[in-house]
Amino acid sequence: ADPASPTISDLSSRTPPYSKLLKNLHHVRRLLPTRALTLAEKILYTHLESAEESLLTGTQNGADIRGKANLKLKPDRVAMQDASAQMALLQFMSCGLPTTAVPASIHCDHMIVGEKGADTDLPNSIEGNKEVFDFLESAARKYGIEFWPPGAGIIHQSVLENYSAPGLMMLGTDSHTPNAGGLGAIAIGVGGADAVDALVDAPWELKAPKILGVRLEGELSGWASPKDLILYLAGQLTVRGGTGFIIEYFGPGVDSLSCTGKATTCNMGAEVGATTSVFPFSAGHAEYLQSTHRGPIAEQARAIASSPGPHNLLRADDGAEYDNVITINLSNLEPHINGPFTPDLSTPLSRFADAVKSNEWPETFGAGLIGSCTNSSYQDMTRAESLVKQAEAAGLKPKADFFITPGSEQIRATLDRDQTLSTFSEAGGVVLANACGPCIGQWKRTDDVKKGELNAIFSSYNRNFPARNDGNRKTMNFLASPELVTALSYSGSTSFNPMTDSIPLSNGQQFKFDPPVGLELPSAGFAAGNPDFAPSPAQPNPDVEIKIDPNSLRLAVLEPFQPFPNTELEGLKILLKVKGQCTTDTISAAGPWLKFKGHLPNISENTLIGAINAETGETNTAYDHTANGEQMTIPELAKKWKSQSQPWLVVAEHNYGEGSAREHAALQPRYLGGRIILAKSFARIHETNLKKQGVVPLTFANEADYGKLNACDEVRTEGLLSILKSGGNGDVHIVAKSRLNGEEVRIPVKHTLSKDQCGFILAGSALNLLAAKGKA
Ligand code: F3S
Repeated sequence: ADPASPTISDLSSRTPPYSKLLKNLHHVRRLLPTRALTLAEKILYTHLESAEESLLTGTQNGADIRGKANLKLKPDRVAMQDASAQMALLQFMSCGLPTTAVPASIHCDHMIVGEKGADTDLPNSIEGNKEVFDFLESAARKYGIEFWPPGAGIIHQSVLENYSAPGLMMLGTDSHTPNAGGLGAIAIGVGGADAVDALVDAPWELKAPKILGVRLEGELSGWASPKDLILYLAGQLTVRGGTGFIIEYFGPGVDSLSCTGKATTCNMGAEVGATTSVFPFSAGHAEYLQSTHRGPIAEQARAIASSPGPHNLLRADDGAEYDNVITINLSNLEPHINGPFTPDLSTPLSRFADAVKSNEWPETFGAGLIGSCTNSSYQDMTRAESLVKQAEAAGLKPKADFFITPGSEQIRATLDRDQTLSTFSEAGGVVLANACGPCIGQWKRTDDVKKGELNAIFSSYNRNFPARNDGNRKTMNFLASPELVTALSYSGSTSFNPMTDSIPLSNGQQFKFDPPVGLELPSAGFAAGNPDFAPSPAQPNPDVEIKIDPNSLRLAVLEPFQPFPNTELEGLKILLKVKGQCTTDTISAAGPWLKFKGHLPNISENTLIGAINAETGETNTAYDHTANGEQMTIPELAKKWKSQSQPWLVVAEHNYGEGSAREHAALQPRYLGGRIILAKSFARIHETNLKKQGVVPLTFANEADYGKLNACDEVRTEGLLSILKSGGNGDVHIVAKSRLNGEEVRIPVKHTLSKDQCGFILAGSALNLLAAKGKA
């Protein structure tokens, strides 16, 4: 049997519950008779636990939903990657249920290094992480979760190829889960505690997002690719511009994009902070479903998408209104390069050489990396291949190291069969395992650059925070399409523009690239790949024992957090006042720390090690002014205070916790005694994660008050307890006594706690509440 072909029972669990959703759509229309709905609203509102409660309560008869209503949602499916699945499963285990309430999958991808190539890296990584993979596999077997072993693929590519479908709603414990929106699903990145909601059949709560419409006109051509669409949009919106929004694409240009190109576009919607991104059903969706062995789903989706207006679940209604609209003409879109260090610093290719000069960025670069969850489709790879073939025919070799990461075994085997991979290898490219590798700091960069040395790289990945790829904060990581990264790798120059510039040949002639060409889908279909990488069936087995060695350094059973005291918070000390960007990487670094994801005490040793001390400008440096100003690392001080039962808070600037869904960035401060994060603003996923772990996220009512606080000031709250007890009503202040002069300041602060979230904080964590309900 073709191991890539799902069985009939697989397909039934992978098909969105269309008849139920259509019934729900009918009901939603009865409740909101005059509203034309966007596609995102249709998918969300048909997944509500109670449409009446979410759409009508507290709003003006459904007129004022977006940005206001709390949606209590029942997702169809959950996907988890190996690093975040550990904590999600440890939390799920404490609820004591025999199986998951919705279909779920685990994908082993983050803990696999990229160094010498798949053949060496994969066995080494399996060996080094055996304990964790065994834990995940045994938990999957016990609870009936599909388990994709190491090497099977990267979560988002495997989800696109197997689980995503038009109209589906899913949660994923990874911030790039919105990748599945390329195939018409609403797919949202969350922390493990949120995933546990869906796994135990508790409603998952989301403030109804606003909808940002992106109207696409024209058609891509030449060097421009779907990656350039999102790189350009990231520049327009900035890393905070999508916060609180779903990005919904529409317009005549939509149909010209391939399904996988739409996935790339949705994937990187995470970079602008969007809740998720989604495309309407198109013929390309049906073709992609068909070619990935899901013909029956394609047929159902096609029938729904062609049904008359009121019954059409898979496209926006005529006249649907968006909160904002941005129009992009794909015909005029130029390739873009974004970075370094932030995905929204976007420069059109034609101006990049000038930017290199004026910013004094390095003139040369050491590595070009293509593929990953974002850009390893058949179209991406065959377009890159077309450039490699041109260059090889001219006798050129890449000047930069060239790495290729296939997103899944299915795409790897297909590219292997069609000799795309051998074209890359013969050109000197290194094909890495079907896993995250260099995209998540698992790049063992051995030869070319020393730690701390300034250098540049280009990748077709999605994220480029400092130290993201090789652990070196001085590596300037520029994001571009796979085609551009490939062409640039042949020149080795950061200023090279393949649309206009030539590369000199040894015979004195000049070589100029023709624009790339490729195929959307393989003409011979997708290859099956190695059957060892096929997922395990989703059959729960209560007899399976999940073993966690009490002496393990990698896994530790979770101890519940203490409930909120029946008082205001008092006697807190400010651990650190953070300056500038504070991403989830800053709060809980990845790379070598990934191995401790299932062991909260051990991973907490990295807490805030990337944070900059606002008073001194130093990184990972704190001063214990309660003990003569002793200098320590941030986690050392947090641990010391934990041992002294000294609770603390962190003060920070804008978009605290931007980046990923990494719930460790909330769990670790909580474990170490953090009770409040007081920031100018928060990234959405992280703010929710904090609440779920019992940490109170507060924002300054007046941003200038940030300047009034210093490390080791003593803080108490006023009004917080009554807010928590009343389910979110009332005002809250913090009162801080200065360590410098002993004076008190009373600062108004804001919160976004819903009634349910107040319950999490009071119980100590969302999990405490779920476990208590389970026992009741
Ligand atoms: Fe993996 Fe996330 Fe990159 S899923 S490939 S680390 S963006």
